[in-house]
Amino acid sequence: MAGRAPFADPDVNKKAAPAATSGNAARSRLLSQYARRIEQAAARVYDVATISALEDAPKLSAKLGCRVLLKREDTQSVHSFKLRGAYNKIAQLDETARARGVVTASAGNHAQGVALAAQRLGIAASIVMPRTTPAIKVESVRSLGGRAILHGDAFDDASAHAMELAEQRGMTMVHPYDDVDVIAGQGTVAREILQQLAPLRVQHLDAVFVCVGGGGLLAGVAAWIKQYSPKTQVICVEPDDSNCMGAALAAGRRVRLQQVGLFADGVAVRQAGAEPYRVARQLVDACITVSVDEICAAIRDMFNENRAVPEPAGALGIAGVKRWAQTHDVAGKTFCAIVSGANINFDRLRHVAERAELGDEAEALLAVTIPEKPGSFKRFLKQIGRRAVTEFNYRYSSPGAAHVFVGIKLSGGQAERAALIEALRLQDYPVLDMSGNEMAKMHVRFMVGGRAPGLGDEHLFRFEFPERPGALVDFLGAVGGRWNISLFHYRNHGAANGRVLCALQVPRGQLRECRRSLNELGYEYWEETANPAYQLFLGTQVEPDHRGV
Ligand SMILES: Cc1ncc(COP(=O)(O)O)c(C=O)c1O
Repeated sequence: MAGRAPFADPDVNKKAAPAATSGNAARSRLLSQYARRIEQAAARVYDVATISALEDAPKLSAKLGCRVLLKREDTQSVHSFKLRGAYNKIAQLDETARARGVVTASAGNHAQGVALAAQRLGIAASIVMPRTTPAIKVESVRSLGGRAILHGDAFDDASAHAMELAEQRGMTMVHPYDDVDVIAGQGTVAREILQQLAPLRVQHLDAVFVCVGGGGLLAGVAAWIKQYSPKTQVICVEPDDSNCMGAALAAGRRVRLQQVGLFADGVAVRQAGAEPYRVARQLVDACITVSVDEICAAIRDMFNENRAVPEPAGALGIAGVKRWAQTHDVAGKTFCAIVSGANINFDRLRHVAERAELGDEAEALLAVTIPEKPGSFKRFLKQIGRRAVTEFNYRYSSPGAAHVFVGIKLSGGQAERAALIEALRLQDYPVLDMSGNEMAKMHVRFMVGGRAPGLGDEHLFRFEFPERPGALVDFLGAVGGRWNISLFHYRNHGAANGRVLCALQVPRGQLRECRRSLNELGYEYWEETANPAYQLFLGTQVEPDHRGV
């Protein structure tokens, strides 16, 4: 309806009056009204949505010691649940409102949901997107027949412009989450979940884990679940740098976060919706937050399970179940994680792969100080044992001590990491744990290097050897015993070949002998001492001549 406030639903607002009735009566009225709306939504949304699968996740279940079910909303045609709420809202507009069209502000999945819903109903849709929106998203809105309007630099600017358009042109604003009809449409996800339990022989669902941006999905799911399966817990899951609903529930009022992390872009919302908050306050059992690294690990879990790749927001539910299992007795329990979407930019997968091991506590990143002398790398790696080395970065800086940035694969999580650090310290290696140091993980690990002006007799070699457990240790054993290693860079990228850049200090008279030993190794290698990239950024000249570069 033109100009109508997004959540000015007369029914819902009336029942919200706190003094009108006791808490319990208000709660049960809220539940029955939403149950009715969700039931009505179910008669509409399947014009565009499909009943997505609820499927077992056997690998995750075995890992966590409980039964984990995945609700596959990533398989909807626009790869998220968002078309349910948008369609439920738009399909209810009368002829006049339809003729005027709809408007929304979104740079994400809601934009596509609105464009698709409007296209199916033959209604004009204007979607205001910040000018910074990636072209791929603008194009996908246009390909669904939506009119993409680029306005402002941030979401708030786009949102204000969408409101203006709604005012001026009488278009209906389709809010992404703060609207009872949108919430009811998202609630059909929970209606399906409860219907799908019997065929899976689930007697009782212990909890459902729901990702939260503005809270539309959470409110719809909680309303249906608490009406028809009140003993099932509803758990809100948010990134720890974007937790507007958890913060609001803790404070007892909606708070506006100063900043939100953008990694899980689908849920990067500063303030929970008013109506979702009102519903969540009464129905949600617990809120948990997870780190970006845990979200990355959850994306990998999903890939391992069924070769599908959810977007970060879509993997929040899985990350939530995993976090819950760390702190609760989950044996014999059945949990459902809603996998809400799969619109991920391919480039982002690089970061996901980089962080997944850390998120599962399957990798330790350590800064270790070892003596700067031949053979000390080899001795240090002996301490690490047969654990795989995932990363090894070092550059000479002083004659006395060498600081090494090292990544080590773990199978025993935090306990193994602590034991390893303890064992290294007992051997007199100063160790700093970098596994939780964001600056080190994001920047410093890639910057270990620099020039070593004045260092004598340095020669740079690039090696390739077949990657396998223990390959790096063997390599160092073969290369590092005789000549001092003054630079080393290795990162296991999951490729078939391990690649190492390594500088050795070889006195002039021993060069021939060194090359002979390297040949005997049987690895492919290239001397790179003359490479201008080395001379400029890593070399030993006090002032390198870069004019010829
Ligand atoms: C993939 C995905 N998951 C979760 C959400 C959060 O939904 P809500 O804003 O209803 O909490 C969104 C919102 O756009 C989303 O795109």
